[in-house]
Amino acid sequence: MKKEILRTEGDVNISPGRTKWMESNNSHKETQHLLAEDERLFLHQSMSTPCIDVLEACNNATICNIQGKSYLDFHGNNVHQVGFANPYVIEQVKKQLDELSFCTRRFTNRTAITFADTLTSLLPKDLNRVLFAPGGTSVIGIALKLARVVTGKHKVISYWDSFHGASMDAISAGGEAVFRQHLGPMMPGAIRIPPPMNNNGFFEDEMKSADYLEYVIEKEGDIGAFIAETIRNTDVQIPSKKYWKRVREICDKHDIILILDEIPIAMGRTGKMFAFENYDIEPDILCLGKGLGGGIIPFAAMVCRERYNIAQNISLGHYTHEKSPVGCAAAQAVIDYIKNEDLLKKVKIDGDWIENELYKLQQKYAIIRNIRGIGLLWGIELRHSHNDKSATEEAEKVMYSCLEQGLSFKVSQGNVLQLSPALTIERHELERALEILDNAFSIL
Ligand SMILES: Cc1ncc(COP(=O)(O)O)c(C=O)c1O
Repeated sequence: MKKEILRTEGDVNISPGRTKWMESNNSHKETQHLLAEDERLFLHQSMSTPCIDVLEACNNATICNIQGKSYLDFHGNNVHQVGFANPYVIEQVKKQLDELSFCTRRFTNRTAITFADTLTSLLPKDLNRVLFAPGGTSVIGIALKLARVVTGKHKVISYWDSFHGASMDAISAGGEAVFRQHLGPMMPGAIRIPPPMNNNGFFEDEMKSADYLEYVIEKEGDIGAFIAETIRNTDVQIPSKKYWKRVREICDKHDIILILDEIPIAMGRTGKMFAFENYDIEPDILCLGKGLGGGIIPFAAMVCRERYNIAQNISLGHYTHEKSPVGCAAAQAVIDYIKNEDLLKKVKIDGDWIENELYKLQQKYAIIRNIRGIGLLWGIELRHSHNDKSATEEAEKVMYSCLEQGLSFKVSQGNVLQLSPALTIERHELERALEILDNAFSIL
């Protein structure tokens, strides 16, 4: 298949920038050997294989390659809210492994029950039924199926450019066309609307996206659900409270199930345990994953309204590791750690600091068109000042320069540098990251 460069969720590994990086980082024999072996054995994909480097260790906010070089990891696949190799999470996981390492279907276990209780106690009163699964995409699938069962309708609305996972049902409902290319036919009934982007979106006013949602619901007449990320993680799109309140109203008025996908951004990323808490709204179904397993155990959860508990005769989430005691132990430890360490408070303080620093950077470099973020999730959007065009090449240059200097992050949509550090990152590390970014922009 032709190697077109399609930039969406993250930066790609077939760009000229990548070739240059590989050529200038080819002196370490074992690294070269392992990268070649990896390339020989794994199926190639644009955002993973061939890979960029070989890791040997990870700890809190950093990852370390086999040559001993450390990178501050502001990417982390969004699993590192409590830091990599969090000692408390590891201790709890080890304890669980010694006690009960797996729970066979038809049986339950104390750890799963305790964690289900902990999770639902943090959520609005009526969000109190859970299903667990080994990954985010799986709980999205469960949510979509549950919405069909509850409403009797198969149609679902989502945003163009949204991402909800890589399986066939998730790419069908998702809005990134490149994820569907060459793969059809897709699941029927997915209808997409323009997202409420706060700059350079389809609508000048984000509320128009809400109006359009209602328009489509009324025109179609048989929509079951609306699925969206509360805050778009990859290119950091943050709707207003007014927008979300209006969407909630629309869903209530038309009996549409509101599925919020917070797989990458819950567990404190936005300064709240769950992102929807920033908006004074409640979802009907909430999807969690990634950092829920502490970056150690693949683990995800779907939480829904009590009244949706009506599918006794079907298996909506028939996953082998459903009531995983080890996954639940990790997730319990993540929540306990966030609370015990008062991490949400730290995120707010660090978020204010980073916002200030990023605005200073924007004053210095005209190519920085927009800074946006919340808590410890930030996006730096690059555009050419003379024509407002996406500065894709420059974004890649900044990224590779930062990698060279020991800071890793992803570039989303080709021109948004996404900064998503461990919430446990130390202030001097944040300072170092900003210094590295400044250096990278200065040599553009
Ligand atoms: C918003 C969103 N939803 C769902 C998923 C799928 O999660 P997983 O990769 O754990 O299946 C992702 C993964 O990147 C995501 O970013």
